[in-house]
Amino acid sequence: MVPLIYCSLFVLLLLHPISEGAPEEALITQLPGFNGTFPSKHYSGFVTIDESKGKNLFYYFVLSEGNPTKDPLVLWLNGGPGCSSFDGFVYEHGPFNFQAGRKPGSQPQLLLNPYSWSKVSSIIYLDSPAGVGFSYSNDHNDYTTGDLKTASDTHTFLLKWFQKYPEFLTNPFYITGESYAGVYVPTLAFEVANGIKAGVKPMINFKGYIVGNGVTDKEFDGNALVPFAHGMGLISDDLFQEVSAACQGNYWNSSNEICEDKLKKVDEDISDLNIYDILEPCYHSPEIRSITSGSIRLPSSFRQLGETKRPLAVRKRMFGRAWPLRASVRDGYVPTWPQLLGSNSVPCTDDEVATTWLNDEKVRSAIHAQQKNVSGDWELCTGNINFHHDAGSMIKYHKNLTAQGYRALIFSGDHDMCVPFTGSQAWTRSLGYKVIDEWRAWTFGGQVAGYTQGYEQNLTFLTIKGAGHTVPEYKPQEALAFYTRWLAGQSI
Ligand SMILES: *[C@@H]1O[C@H](CO)[C@@H](O)[C@H](O)[C@H]1NC(C)=O
Ligand SMILES: *[C@@H]1O[C@H](CO)[C@@H](O)[C@H](O)[C@H]1NC(C)=O
Ligand SMILES: *[C@@H]1O[C@H](CO)[C@@H](O)[C@H](O)[C@H]1NC(C)=O
Ligand SMILES: *[C@@H]1O[C@H](CO)[C@@H](O)[C@H](O)[C@H]1NC(C)=O
Ligand SMILES: *[C@@H]1O[C@H](CO)[C@@H](O)[C@H](O)[C@H]1NC(C)=O
Repeated sequence: MVPLIYCSLFVLLLLHPISEGAPEEALITQLPGFNGTFPSKHYSGFVTIDESKGKNLFYYFVLSEGNPTKDPLVLWLNGGPGCSSFDGFVYEHGPFNFQAGRKPGSQPQLLLNPYSWSKVSSIIYLDSPAGVGFSYSNDHNDYTTGDLKTASDTHTFLLKWFQKYPEFLTNPFYITGESYAGVYVPTLAFEVANGIKAGVKPMINFKGYIVGNGVTDKEFDGNALVPFAHGMGLISDDLFQEVSAACQGNYWNSSNEICEDKLKKVDEDISDLNIYDILEPCYHSPEIRSITSGSIRLPSSFRQLGETKRPLAVRKRMFGRAWPLRASVRDGYVPTWPQLLGSNSVPCTDDEVATTWLNDEKVRSAIHAQQKNVSGDWELCTGNINFHHDAGSMIKYHKNLTAQGYRALIFSGDHDMCVPFTGSQAWTRSLGYKVIDEWRAWTFGGQVAGYTQGYEQNLTFLTIKGAGHTVPEYKPQEALAFYTRWLAGQSI
């Protein structure tokens, strides 16, 4: 547990503008709950990507606390689909830590986060697609969408965003995200790369991308669980041998009865674990407990979850879309948590701090979001969108992008059972690139922080030891360390 260190009251300093083009009306001058001095400039607002429909994407832009004129510019995307990127801002690597353990409903106090990714980069937190977080459209037909439309909309957003902030066109630009952003990131990167080749203006100085515990491919992701469960000591050697023999490595879509039978036993063995971090118990409110015990449609892993005894538990959270065990993301409609559960709450999730803060009209006004009568309540993960997985496997995107020389970091919290590292490890290896940095430990503070394998074409696979699905939330120091080293082009 990190002790809460309260900042003393500072007079808000008006920093000198570092940039010529940044729109002054987007500058954030104060934030309810924060008494200190902003360590760098923050801007936020909407970019209208379709004037005729009033389709508006919301961004929160944190300038680097280092050298914003030189440091990389990074776009961050949370997944879902349907989850707001304020997830990353509030709970993972944003500039603030939000005080937990307050009276529920009272205004959260904000302290500076010493491990913010804005220490070494400028970051755009984008709510995408329209209908998610603060982003909205006046035409709700826009809320039926999919991978390809989301990628082209986000590309449009970027081109318009750079017109507002042209001074950042020269910074090296990276696209990053986690979980379902394992689909958003490569599909958007592909759009951006094609735009650059086609001479689309403004010209983006795109260098590469980062994906954390990312959804990638139905076979690799779907086959990852059984070897993970065996390696982690969650199933017996005997069962592993039997299930391997019966399924012949095809766990994601077996049509064989013996295989199905053995997989049922695997599911039983692991069903009471927190799938987002097998080391952690699960946060849940009494309200969620009653829903989970009554629901048949819910994966059994969520029905009887342990409770944490920690006074200030790490938030137990997941990415807003649940798949039953082994059922990886498949083509077509992706169901939402609210649809699976008949509730707006996400099991294992304590999103109270973010929900209280971002639904305070004073906060919404300070960050230039719309009031609730225009864009509705802010939700961590929304069921308002109808999302279709229509881009297929991400492998072809990764091949294309790395072959073109874009750098790629594929990282994985090694205790996540939702998108287990075994899948990311296998698909990165499957690209067929020569290993140039053979599997080895990487360290932080003199300790092993995880393992890495480097391939030619600037492809790096990296694990973070002991981290769950949302790595910077569990291991903020280690996360800032690998992020910093990778962005600087150093060996991790
Ligand atoms: C900020 O100021 C308010 C009012 O003076 C105070 O109640 C609160 O504890 C302060 N928060 C921090 C983090 O210092
Ligand atoms: C799953 O396997 C069945 C038969 O084994 C096959 O007909 C079906 O097309 C497969 N599903 C997918 C999505 O490939
Ligand atoms: C939303 O409410 C504000 C006042 O609270 C009002 O000025 C504004 O016109 C309303 N907007 C819509 C679209 O109803
Ligand atoms: C990547 O995809 C683009 C667009 O389809 C294509 O023009 C290009 O040749 C591909 N590059 C590689 C290296 O596969
Ligand atoms: C790898 O990245 C570095 C730094 O951006 C770059 O100089 C180099 O050309 C890249 N290598 C390949 C094979 O693309």
